[in-house]
Amino acid sequence: MAVRKVVRMGHPVLRQIARSLTKEEIKSPWFENLIQDMIETMHDYGGIGLAAPQIGESVQVAIVDYEEESERYPSAGKSYPFTIVVNPVVKPIGEETQSFWEGCLSVPDLRGLVARPKKIQVDYLDVQGKPQSIQVEGFAATVFQHELDHLQGVLYIDRVKTELGKTHLAFSDEFVRYLAPKSEDDVGVLEE
Ligand code: NI
Repeated sequence: MAVRKVVRMGHPVLRQIARSLTKEEIKSPWFENLIQDMIETMHDYGGIGLAAPQIGESVQVAIVDYEEESERYPSAGKSYPFTIVVNPVVKPIGEETQSFWEGCLSVPDLRGLVARPKKIQVDYLDVQGKPQSIQVEGFAATVFQHELDHLQGVLYIDRVKTELGKTHLAFSDEFVRYLAPKSEDDVGVLEE
């Protein structure tokens, strides 16, 4: 077990479509080690989620874990219990979208405003290799979609809204100074 280095934008692994895992692989010691490394790395970097490609492993595994009382994510709303998803498939539920300012451990020091479906279903395998299905909405839906994008070679900056004359991508310091939401009703901030 170890804290691994989080790879940053420009590393080719972040642009690969990660491969799915077999049930045999999920039950292997290798998988258990991978999960432990991902947990330790996420905590060390202060993230609320992590996808395996971010530590250089191009496989379909992501974790999400954040708490309601986090000072770093005051607008995060509800907490989301520690969840490991393998071979996930995301389907939007309904037409409604929401926008959050996102950040990413692989794209440090930037924030970008991204619109995503507000409610989704995630079908995946759990750590026993059993099929599971969850419905997630609000901030957690954005967290899941951000992480699961990593498994498809997509970074949030690919999805930042573009509108001439508008700032939808900013450095973290300038974001805090000029753009941070002033109330709970405004868009929140996701920094994985
Ligand atoms: Ni990310």
